[in-house]
Amino acid sequence: MHAHFERTGPLTELSSYPTWAQDMVMACEDTKQSVIRHDLWPIMREAKLNHIATRHFMVGIWPVIERFPGYMAMNLLKTRFGRSEGDNLARRWLVRNIRVEQNHAEYWLTWAEGANIKREEVLHGIAPGGTEALANWCEEISKSGSLAAGVAATNYAVEGATGEWSQLLYDSIAYRESFPQNIRVGSLRWLQLHAAYDDTHPWEALEIVCTLLGNSPMPHDVAHITECVKRSYICMRLLADRCVDARTESVVVSEAAA
Ligand SMILES: [Fe+2]
Repeated sequence: MHAHFERTGPLTELSSYPTWAQDMVMACEDTKQSVIRHDLWPIMREAKLNHIATRHFMVGIWPVIERFPGYMAMNLLKTRFGRSEGDNLARRWLVRNIRVEQNHAEYWLTWAEGANIKREEVLHGIAPGGTEALANWCEEISKSGSLAAGVAATNYAVEGATGEWSQLLYDSIAYRESFPQNIRVGSLRWLQLHAAYDDTHPWEALEIVCTLLGNSPMPHDVAHITECVKRSYICMRLLADRCVDARTESVVVSEAAA
């Protein structure tokens, strides 16, 4: 069933990938769009996210930011050099890209500080209920899932959708200008690095998944990968929901207090 896949078309075109992968991407599209088109982003783009919701955002996503190289390391542990082309590709890519994550946790803390959320709060504050789903899921699939499922859920799905929402924020002049000029560049570095302008990472992750599974994987393997990708998007959406909820809650609280 495992007909060898080797990409010949352009990296960033869906038609370069096996039919099953094209179907998988299409099957996940609506779920992905529920993240990218979430109400949270226009609110942030207008620099109208209040303090409590900003705190939920920074503290809630932090565990995933901090742990992301760890997810990749757990997936790296599953590879065996020489076992297959997919293993070799995954190993080479993960080794190289774990290094790229080096400073990203620090940049996240700098972004949070620029948005008036203290680093102590991000490091030690209690994450809002419901936001832990994404970190738990990434941890579980990276630790216990197959190499293909782990890479699909994290480097393909989470990084892919993150690239798109990062670009939405980074493109907003109102958002960028909400940071004082003297700290603007530093505060926005994480966003700038993750905005998907010409980001090839999620495509490279898709290529790895396809090289591992081949041209004609078993239907249940395809169903599993599809499920994993959707689950990452759903967890991201829950996190975004929680930030938007917090915004309404705080309005209700302040109205009640008034
Ligand atoms: Fe990163």
